[in-house]
Amino acid sequence: MSVFNATRLIGKTVIVTGASSGIGAATAVLFAKAGSNVILVARRQEILKQVADQCLAAHKESGLTQGGKFATVQLDVSDKTQVAGFLDKVPQDLRDIDILVNNAGFVLGLDRIGDIKDSDIEGMFATNVFGLISMTQLLVREFKKKQAGHVINLGSIAGREPYVGGSVYNATKSAVRAFTGALLRELVNTPIRVTEIDPGLVETEFSIVRFRGDTSAAKKVYEGLEPLTGYDIAEEIVWAASRPPHVNIADVLVYPVNQASAVSTYRKPANM
Ligand SMILES: NC(=O)c1ccc[n+]([C@@H]2O[C@H](COP(=O)([O-])OP(=O)(O)OC[C@H]3O[C@@H](n4cnc5c(N)ncnc54)[C@H](OP(=O)(O)O)[C@@H]3O)[C@@H](O)[C@H]2O)c1
Repeated sequence: MSVFNATRLIGKTVIVTGASSGIGAATAVLFAKAGSNVILVARRQEILKQVADQCLAAHKESGLTQGGKFATVQLDVSDKTQVAGFLDKVPQDLRDIDILVNNAGFVLGLDRIGDIKDSDIEGMFATNVFGLISMTQLLVREFKKKQAGHVINLGSIAGREPYVGGSVYNATKSAVRAFTGALLRELVNTPIRVTEIDPGLVETEFSIVRFRGDTSAAKKVYEGLEPLTGYDIAEEIVWAASRPPHVNIADVLVYPVNQASAVSTYRKPANM
């Protein structure tokens, strides 16, 4: 018998945005393993299908007979028209949604204020802030109707602590933090739960996207320490989702052991 009870997730239906990579992909697979149904959302449909296959395998391995329905929906969360039509694209038998994981997001560059491209500013805000808000509006309406549900938003240490070269990403994640805090307060008189998970350094495609495909620049971000993995954060998400209905994990900050703030890390010298 395991110490923590995740059986409450059996048969639940979960939307995971940004499920084609990193934290989102790991989260989809872990919910599958816990016996949930998962709607996997991202822009890269072919990769989403591969993650859905991993979900099927994880569910099979669990030996659970309930849950195990998986659907992929190609969606750019920054496109309001696509978000408005999202539920129509979800198979009928998966439309009774219990949990929304707003995970889609990215950072671009380390440019300083004055040098940041408008398209980078608009892109980060469109996905990290407006996309998250649009998806939340859509699902909170459903959650209010059924008086149940859980919104889990991916913030970041970057939303708590600005750093040089991170201004726009910092601003998007601060916006996520403010929005999530308001949602928590607005829903205090309902059974609907609201959680923010703020990771530190997690090695995913995140830095590869930041450095526009330069994998060696991305690798350097994690040099000399053991970063978190997508699965480390997926475990926090699934743990928060599986608490008893009267428990709301409102706020979680997760670092690798050798990180103490956005910019404070301990890195082993290369020859050790
Ligand atoms: N890695 C870290 O160190 C770290 C730390 C703190 C917080 N976070 C946050 O954690 C979340 C996940 O990041 P990650 O590390 O897992 O990065 P990742 O591996 O790059 O994954 C990002 C995911 O977001 C999806 N996505 C991006 N824009 C999208 C859009 N407009 N519409 C739909 N999907 C979109 C991507 O899929 P497609 O390209 O297929 O659309 C991908 O599946 C992000 O919100 C990030 O800000 C990450």
